Amino acid sequence: MSVRVDEEIPLARPVLGEAEEQAVVDVLRSGQLSLGPRLPAFEQAFARRLGAAHASAVSSGTSGLHLALRAVGVSDGDEVITSPFSFVASANVAIYERARPVFADIDARTLNLDPRAAAAAVTDRTAAILPVHIFGYPADIPAFEALGLPIVEDACEALGAVHGDGVAVGARGHPAVFGFYANKQLTTGEGGIVTTGDAAVKARMDSERNQGRAPDMGWLDHDRLGFNYRLSDVACALGLAQLERLDAMLADRAHAAALYRAALAGLEGLELPCEDSAGDRRGWFVFVVQLPRGVDRDATIRALRERGVQSKPYLPAIHLMSYYREAFGHREGEFPVCEDVAARSVALPFFPGLSESQVERVAQALRAVLGR
Ligand SMILES: Cc1ncc(COP(=O)(O)O)c(C=O)c1O
Repeated sequence: MSVRVDEEIPLARPVLGEAEEQAVVDVLRSGQLSLGPRLPAFEQAFARRLGAAHASAVSSGTSGLHLALRAVGVSDGDEVITSPFSFVASANVAIYERARPVFADIDARTLNLDPRAAAAAVTDRTAAILPVHIFGYPADIPAFEALGLPIVEDACEALGAVHGDGVAVGARGHPAVFGFYANKQLTTGEGGIVTTGDAAVKARMDSERNQGRAPDMGWLDHDRLGFNYRLSDVACALGLAQLERLDAMLADRAHAAALYRAALAGLEGLELPCEDSAGDRRGWFVFVVQLPRGVDRDATIRALRERGVQSKPYLPAIHLMSYYREAFGHREGEFPVCEDVAARSVALPFFPGLSESQVERVAQALRAVLGR
């Protein structure tokens, strides 16, 4: 018998309104759909918002990570130390440059790359460290800086996050990459941006996203290898409109997280996202819980679905994915903290405007399904 009630609560839902509609219509009417004025306007507004010197808008978080790795000099035969508990793109980008992603285990509290494990993985081939601010919680970038290697930050999930010293995530000067896919804090449908403190890094990325053409070069002349990683003016216009409402959207996500904390507090054995600590502030992106050990996750997700609640396993360990097992020989047991967390993690519905009654429905469903 189905116990389904009301409308299904989705995992994610973007906030789009009249401002976005008008912004897109204005671009369509202008006739300049790419490489127009919205591109630098969006880049400058985004950089200003974070307190970063420069920003380069790109077609996705993945393309931004790729260009950022190239910009810090990663190439054939190098090693890039990164987290196995991330979206697969943060490891794949090293392979695009024929470098090897070298994983190190994560910190059990923050779920971010553990600086001590990363330090132990350094070799004479290590060309960069690629920490991920997973689920919007700031990675310990000062600890990685102490290793003295180039850093590329995967901030795709971390818009709005702030480090303990008050510097926004993405404003420390290393290339830091944000993603604008439809479930992100700010969306352009697809898209991304790389912030950097270095004008030369921006110049290189601007050229490489545009087929390797220098700004002063004529049509169809190119002085380096490049890609088509451009972000259209339609997307940049959306981004500008979303930036205007970013504070409200971030506050709404933080509010939804606080509602979840209160509603799930008594659920024995369930682990919630870590609280902010030592001044580090999360930029809320997803609300991911870890089920008690021994609970069947797939059955839990199915049972939640029957109660009208979407959820998904999030995230799987990258080193245990089929491609990584086959290409690099990875096996269970290499990164025990990551593997334990990845096996138990479930993302719950989370978006600006998630109501108290929806959160209560999710909590009730979870309580019923877990029998607690
Ligand atoms: C941690 C992380 N890295 C990289 C990406 C890739 O971003 P995109 O999907 O925009 O290419 C994402 C987004 O899905 C992500 O969450």
